[in-house]
Amino acid sequence: MQTVDIHTHFFPESWPDLAARFGTPDWPLIKHTGRGEAIVMLGDRPFRKITSACWDVDVRLEHMERDGVDLQVISATPVLFAYGRAPQHALDCARMFNDVALEMCSRGKGRLKALCQVPLQDIDAACEELTRSMRAGHLGVQIGNHVGEKNLDDEGILTFLHHCAVEGAAVLVHPWDMMAPERMPKYMMPWTVGMPAETQLSLVALILSGAFDRLPSSLRICFAHGGGSFAFLLGRLENAFAHHQVARGASQFAPSHYLDRVYVDSAVFEEGTLRFLVQVMGTDRVILGSDYPFPLGEERVGRLVRNSKLPSDVRTKLLGTNAHKFLGLQSVAGSGTHQTGSSTHVPVATVRGEDGASPSVPGPQVGAHLTYSSYLRVPELLSLQHLRSAPAHHDELLFIIVHQTYELWFCELLHDLEAVVVNLRAAGANPTSRDEVYEAARLLRRCTEIMRVLVDQFTILETMLPTHFLAFRGILNPASGFQSEQFREIEFLCGLKDEKMLRYHEPTPEAYAALNRRLQQDSLRDVFFAALRALGMLPPLTPSATERERFEARAKAIQNLYQDERNHRDWIDVCERLTEFDELMVAWRLRHIQMVERTIGARVGTGGSAGGSYLKNTLEKKFFPELWEARTILQQ
Ligand code: HEM
Repeated sequence: MQTVDIHTHFFPESWPDLAARFGTPDWPLIKHTGRGEAIVMLGDRPFRKITSACWDVDVRLEHMERDGVDLQVISATPVLFAYGRAPQHALDCARMFNDVALEMCSRGKGRLKALCQVPLQDIDAACEELTRSMRAGHLGVQIGNHVGEKNLDDEGILTFLHHCAVEGAAVLVHPWDMMAPERMPKYMMPWTVGMPAETQLSLVALILSGAFDRLPSSLRICFAHGGGSFAFLLGRLENAFAHHQVARGASQFAPSHYLDRVYVDSAVFEEGTLRFLVQVMGTDRVILGSDYPFPLGEERVGRLVRNSKLPSDVRTKLLGTNAHKFLGLQSVAGSGTHQTGSSTHVPVATVRGEDGASPSVPGPQVGAHLTYSSYLRVPELLSLQHLRSAPAHHDELLFIIVHQTYELWFCELLHDLEAVVVNLRAAGANPTSRDEVYEAARLLRRCTEIMRVLVDQFTILETMLPTHFLAFRGILNPASGFQSEQFREIEFLCGLKDEKMLRYHEPTPEAYAALNRRLQQDSLRDVFFAALRALGMLPPLTPSATERERFEARAKAIQNLYQDERNHRDWIDVCERLTEFDELMVAWRLRHIQMVERTIGARVGTGGSAGGSYLKNTLEKKFFPELWEARTILQQ
């Protein structure tokens, strides 16, 4: 079992002058004072002396080697949270440091992983940045234990925590911005007194607000510094709960009932305290966390746990097993190069912009040397195959990779189809210009080429014997292709809008909301016919026209285009591409059915459908039925 340190911090070697960038004072700034030494300043005020261990990956790896740590989880230092700043500035700041963290990890020989930071004062932005970061390769998020006056039981923060559960993101809660600074001006009291009290406060707020009764049990949340004073004062909390109605809050059960919903790290520095912590929290709930490389961190990481008199199986749990569970990692039997996880990653909101702009995942910005693998995020990409079979089944990797490549191509298809919509809309707005029509046809050709690859790709999956699939099929339940958000989005975007399919996305509220939004938007089909109307090819109909009459008018408009080939070659080309896309989509459905029948015969689907027989009914579906209807009415 690997030794994993889940609580370490980093500062990049340099970063832009944020005060100048955002036009507000006192942002953290790094000032190098000597070789391997620097001071982080807050405006003119020195905040903390740091060393190159904060930014130099080689130094970190050397220290890990020295201390016997296999994997280190890095997160930013709370002074960078910027929760009190303008949300846009905090978001920019988070993006910048999140990308730098991954860039450091990419140089960490697979031994560094990262938790992102988010602008928690703006829940929508926080959720979006979490999703972006998880897609980019972060394992979760580090959050502060409060946002101004809002504790963790704030409704917005609970929404964010819910989102973390959905995303499979591990959450590390770190105390910051300590209470009553006016009473703790000396002796490092904000660290020694304020931090433990802050952490206790946030844990108590979560429990007594009843948050754990509402949050999914899949949420993995850990509190730094042994959970602060929580464990030591749990008896006091239980006593109040037992005797005072007002102390019970909205919690359904006594506080100790929820201990198996949280983790704490082991940064308590004293063996008696560590043993007490394990006794209160349980052997599965304490994880090695060192606060490396800061002065209040464990000097030789892991020594406290290793040298303790805790039984050896408990030490193993603290040093690695519990961290793997918290982070959603597990060692694979066999190769040792891939990791398995206890949770599947559910793709949520798309990173595409509302306007169809390209995916905006900026590359590393600070101190980065761009390489093939850092640009393409190869290490992150290769860490996303989380096998669930135990012992790992050889073919599960193929199963995951085939699905992942489909999803990547779906992402590109959506990207291009959105651009087609933008071009057709522009063509409708300016019927004399031909550029946009040409561009739409060009992009549609790319879409049909992608579809050809997607139709063919099923053959790779067919190299898996039915018996091999059955060996791990059971563990996939109830995950199903029904839940492919991007597939459904392609259908909705093209014009095949079946609201009923939304129900399969109820377990993932963000996907549900995104698809619901897509349902309300004009589809490619709508925009295409609106452009034909602007071109004068589709005469307006009376409001009382029936759906059948509208359909026939649209088919007639296509007929008129084709019958006047000389004047409408470019539009006919768009029609041909759309027809081909439709055709290939049916080919995809057919190949999927053949592959399904070859693999599971007439078995029912994991999504609850009748399987092959259900899928056969989808073969009739068409995105652009008018294009097909026109074929019947065309004349010589
Ligand atoms: C051994 C491999 C596979 C099997 C046995 C399988 C089986 C099924 C079944 C039975 C359904 C019907 C829904 C249900 O009850 O779950 C389904 C739907 C679906 N599958 Fe697959 N599938 C496989 C691979 C794939 C792959 C590689 C993709 C690629 C993205 C995929 C995408 C989908 C989609 C998008 C749907 C929904 C189709 C619709 O609603 O029209 N499947 N699959």
